[in-house]
Amino acid sequence: MSACGLAPLPADGTAFERFAADVRAGLGGPGRKSLPPMHLYDALGSALFEAITRLPEYGVWRAERRVLERHANDIAACCQADTVIELGSGSATKTRLLLEASLRRHPVSYVAVDVSPSALEGTRATLRDLDGLAVTLVEADYLSGLERALQARGNAGRVLVLFLGSSLGNYAAGEASRWLGAIRRSLRSGDGLLVGVDLDKPARRLLSAYADPLGVTAAFNLNLLARMNRELGADFDPSSFRHVARFDPRTRDVEMHLRSLRAQQVHFARLGLSVALRAGETIHTESSHKYRTEELDALAAGAGFRPAGHWRDDAWPFLEALYTA
Ligand code: AVJ
Repeated sequence: MSACGLAPLPADGTAFERFAADVRAGLGGPGRKSLPPMHLYDALGSALFEAITRLPEYGVWRAERRVLERHANDIAACCQADTVIELGSGSATKTRLLLEASLRRHPVSYVAVDVSPSALEGTRATLRDLDGLAVTLVEADYLSGLERALQARGNAGRVLVLFLGSSLGNYAAGEASRWLGAIRRSLRSGDGLLVGVDLDKPARRLLSAYADPLGVTAAFNLNLLARMNRELGADFDPSSFRHVARFDPRTRDVEMHLRSLRAQQVHFARLGLSVALRAGETIHTESSHKYRTEELDALAAGAGFRPAGHWRDDAWPFLEALYTA
């Protein structure tokens, strides 16, 4: 990995093979259809997500920005990291606040991991003028990106892993604890993990955030069909699907689905795959879990982390939590 260079794709399969395998597994079988949310973020999907962060109804992004605006100095003082590794760096607008606060204390190097090359370009652009910050960009999914970022750490000091923006909410309950355990095992004692999670709130606030009146979230979700057309040679007609967002107060998950408006057959020319959808059948594309503070603390403790700080936004309940390995 070179400073400010794009690292090559991981050896465990290209982005195409990964996407193809996930489509076969998620749409090819007889059961409920679903696709992993990482595939929402091609260049257009990443741009649509940036647009979502500007929607007045999507309070999640601004809530975390307020937390970092108010508390970045405090958080940086608690972490004292030499290397910051961010999983899912996106535009890095919020990260910049934390890096600025850290750089006021001592030199820091930064490794950004993202599946989207266009998002990594945004990361680079946002941080370009931060004097003294060594930036490394890694195009990879979270786990292989984290492994590669840590391989490069050598004996260098303390690492802080950032998992911001409520990305942890995309994991189902059991998966989130396994994922935190995997992060913990890859860290050394004294390293840190800063996690931002969206907190539980009334259903109507959540539904307007995930089914906004301008239809930006619908476009973000439907783009997954267009992406399968572009990259896998599929023949989806996006106008025969509808964006659906629902909140289950028992699981505290917002679920996004794509509902087929009619019975239809879709063919994937590049995969030799045909998929039949019934009228009303849905493809589950994302779950976004709404945490409680004690719930996250318990998950982190179960993974072997010690609590080291909580910072909250109250206007749109959101929690930034620091843990130590
Ligand atoms: C980037 C995964 C945190 O779950 O709120 C926004 C993605 N989906 N609107 C979220 C998203 C629909 C977002 N995360």
